[in-house]
Amino acid sequence: MQLRSNGNPMDTFDKSTSPIDLTVLSRNVSRLSGLLTRDREALPAAYLKDPDLRQAYLRYFVPANISKIHLPLRELSLHPKGLLRKDRLKVLDLGSGPGTALLGMMEFFSHHDHKPVLDCTALDQVGENLKDAERLFTEWRENTGMDASLRTLRSGVDRAAARLAGERFDVLILSNVLNELFHGNDERTEVRRNFLLGLLNQLMDQQGSCIIIEPALRETSREMLEVVCGLPAQTAQFYAPCPASGLCATLENARDWQHEEVPWDPPEIVREVDQRIGLRKDALKFSYVVLRKDASSITDVLGLDAWRVVSEPLISKGKAEFYLCGSEGRRLVVRLDKDWSDLNQDFGGLQRGAFVGFDGVLDEGKRLKVVKETKVIVKKV
Ligand SMILES: C[S@@+](CC[C@H](N)C(=O)[O-])C[C@H]1O[C@@H](n2cnc3c(N)ncnc32)[C@H](O)[C@@H]1O
Repeated sequence: MQLRSNGNPMDTFDKSTSPIDLTVLSRNVSRLSGLLTRDREALPAAYLKDPDLRQAYLRYFVPANISKIHLPLRELSLHPKGLLRKDRLKVLDLGSGPGTALLGMMEFFSHHDHKPVLDCTALDQVGENLKDAERLFTEWRENTGMDASLRTLRSGVDRAAARLAGERFDVLILSNVLNELFHGNDERTEVRRNFLLGLLNQLMDQQGSCIIIEPALRETSREMLEVVCGLPAQTAQFYAPCPASGLCATLENARDWQHEEVPWDPPEIVREVDQRIGLRKDALKFSYVVLRKDASSITDVLGLDAWRVVSEPLISKGKAEFYLCGSEGRRLVVRLDKDWSDLNQDFGGLQRGAFVGFDGVLDEGKRLKVVKETKVIVKKV
């Protein structure tokens, strides 16, 4: 089967009139998907130099990745101090690929009441990616009507601080790249942490935010936490997804990890490819963390007693449970079916990523318990 018009945002990029060969695309997506997941050890350093893999990335991975940055941006934009409410935002996207996160940022602000001018820098080691970034950025700017500029820099991320010495950015982005850095190195946690520390100290504004997005894989998600949870508090504080006390407790049990799952309606081409290769991209799945130098936090918006739901509902005979992350750590919360009441009825409808508060929850040590008298308050954001 071949497709011409498929509702894919990448259509703005690919102006060719020739139809997309779905068989070829599916084969390339399958190869790339394998390299990014089970065969990660074999991932060549500059894999996106390969035109087939680059096309697969643009057509299949970019549409989903564009939207992943919306959640951290939305959570930052909720803060009462107006953290993103500057007239201009200076943004650095490290390991930008085709500038995916910058496109997502333009899209986000185009739907937002406050529209800052975006002064963007995309840095990547692969020149072809930066060429794609320039073309896509120009198209996207026209489509979104945003006032934005792009500078591209071909460089290894380890040279970023030196190449951009003296500059300070409001937003630093590492989207799906941290796990690719120093990945054959046995000391990679330490090396990545020092690298990140250098970025935060040398390139991030005192009031800036660093958004790190990683794939929703146990290994990469835990490795991200191992890096960020060891950063010194005077340089990096956790804005989102939840306070350090809750987020970093994920590392205590080797089986635990944390990721988001945001409903997503994939473009037709992504569905077609999925059908052929047996994948399912019907939600945006990713892990993320937002770091700042000050103590601002999503809890300033929701209250210190707010919990974030960080698991699926765990349903077993006679009860429902969830894992929660908050300023009091990472906790399991349970409601026995027999304890259902009007006050706690919203418990059953909780989803991963929801924010919730409890009035009158029992602390049993091993777990929190919602009883008939417990009021369950879903916090709307
Ligand atoms: C999975 S892609 C992510 C692209 C984009 N940020 C996104 O989220 O869609 C990883 C990108 O990081 C770049 N990259 C990997 N290691 C790098 C390094 N040491 N220096 C600069 N770029 C690097 C790759 O070239 C590639 O474009």
